[in-house]
Amino acid sequence: MQSSDTPFVWAYLPDEVAPVVAGVLAPSNVRSGLAFRYANSYLARPNRIALGPELPLDSRPFPPDIGHGMPSTIRDAMPDSWGRQVINRELGRGMEDKLSDVVYMLMSGSDRVGALDFQESSAEYRPRAGGGSLRIVAEAAAAIDNAEPLGADRERAVRNTLTAAGGSQPKAYVTLDGREWLAKFETPYDRVSPLIKAERAAIYVAEQAGIDVPTARLLRVARQGVDPRSDLVLLTERFDRDAGRRRMVLSGMTVAQHHLPSGGSYPQLLEQLRPLSTSPPKQGRELFSRLAFRLAMRIDDDHLRNVAFFWDGEHAEFTPAFDLSPDLVGTPTGLTDIGDGSREFSLEALVSKYAYYHLGRDEARDIALAMVDAVVDHRADAADVAEMTEAEKALLVTSTATRDIIGSLNRTAARASRGEQPRDRLGRFDEKPHTPPDVTL
Ligand SMILES: Nc1ncnc2c1ncn2[C@@H]1O[C@H](COP(=O)(O)OP(=O)(O)OP(=O)(O)O)[C@@H](O)[C@H]1O
Ligand SMILES: [Mg+2]
Repeated sequence: MQSSDTPFVWAYLPDEVAPVVAGVLAPSNVRSGLAFRYANSYLARPNRIALGPELPLDSRPFPPDIGHGMPSTIRDAMPDSWGRQVINRELGRGMEDKLSDVVYMLMSGSDRVGALDFQESSAEYRPRAGGGSLRIVAEAAAAIDNAEPLGADRERAVRNTLTAAGGSQPKAYVTLDGREWLAKFETPYDRVSPLIKAERAAIYVAEQAGIDVPTARLLRVARQGVDPRSDLVLLTERFDRDAGRRRMVLSGMTVAQHHLPSGGSYPQLLEQLRPLSTSPPKQGRELFSRLAFRLAMRIDDDHLRNVAFFWDGEHAEFTPAFDLSPDLVGTPTGLTDIGDGSREFSLEALVSKYAYYHLGRDEARDIALAMVDAVVDHRADAADVAEMTEAEKALLVTSTATRDIIGSLNRTAARASRGEQPRDRLGRFDEKPHTPPDVTL
């Protein structure tokens, strides 16, 4: 366990390969949590930049945002429930134990998302480097996820690799073939709902729909020892690394200035984003397209940490889309307000909120239906790319872009307004209410 309760925040400034001390965290005297203060040495740098929109370059302390225990920009660099689980286990604690945030800062891998890191010292930067082959890391992730024994040495060996990325699913940042990737691992739940395969499929469809997504690869990694199964690993290329340099990244929660662990609002995100964007008029369309795609593809894990933005000290721009993970079983429920407090998982409802996205009604409807078309046209191929079984493919085809999700958007009118003839969709455009197929995965 680390003893420091005033960790230093180091930052990789744009175009620099070595990090510098940006500031220090210390218990706040305003409210419970950690306040951040820029280091004088940082404020004196000619190439200093604000670390986040709520942290302008100023020597005063910035109190913790309520709900995050620290300023939200700093919180974005922390491990979430998966990384905390790995650290808790090494410390012999239950997953539900909540240790001090400083412990998680100083025990997690340095190669974390974005361009910040946490260190005990302001004088010397000692990266907590990752390591281990993909197989070793995958085995360790599975053992930790399944609460199986692993051994203290092996736990320590992979800890930095397993704790650098956020989120709740088992994952690690890894290097493969000279490129840097986020690796997501299958869990026992994949036998109920094939999350890893469905995410691979969704990335494929998103690409066809014109949504910016990272390069993705699906790999099989043989588990050795008692369990001869081979597990699927989904790799997406890191968007926060650029030829070895680190890019600053903020979560949607930080940009929206939403400081509760759940909830939040997309219109609020957009209104906060527009003044930070170099092209405000494009942002509504971009956000709306991504939301429409998520709905059409039955991706309901739509919290504000599943949207992120590059940050250069002044401007925020969408990163490629990530966590496109449809849960093909169960009833989808939205988590974030799409407008007027609605969390309806419905394209029709989303289109009705067109004005919040600075779109016209027809424009919004056309985007929504284009996303439906992309899903309908490409989901079968996507299932093949994702190595789905026939049963899984049937599930994907019958549970995405369903009538329940589309509602009564008028496809014929939309096509006519674009000068197209109504097309038969091989019966795969589901005009019937969704009934899950009777399949065993
Ligand atoms: N391609 C990528 N490059 C860099 N960072 C990424 C990439 N994809 C995701 N991330 C980062 O990793 C975090 C976790 O990824 P992701 O949201 O896919 O995981 P998850 O465990 O499924 O999340 P959740 O808890 O929402 O289910 C993201 O919040 C983002 O910060
Ligand atoms: Mg996520």
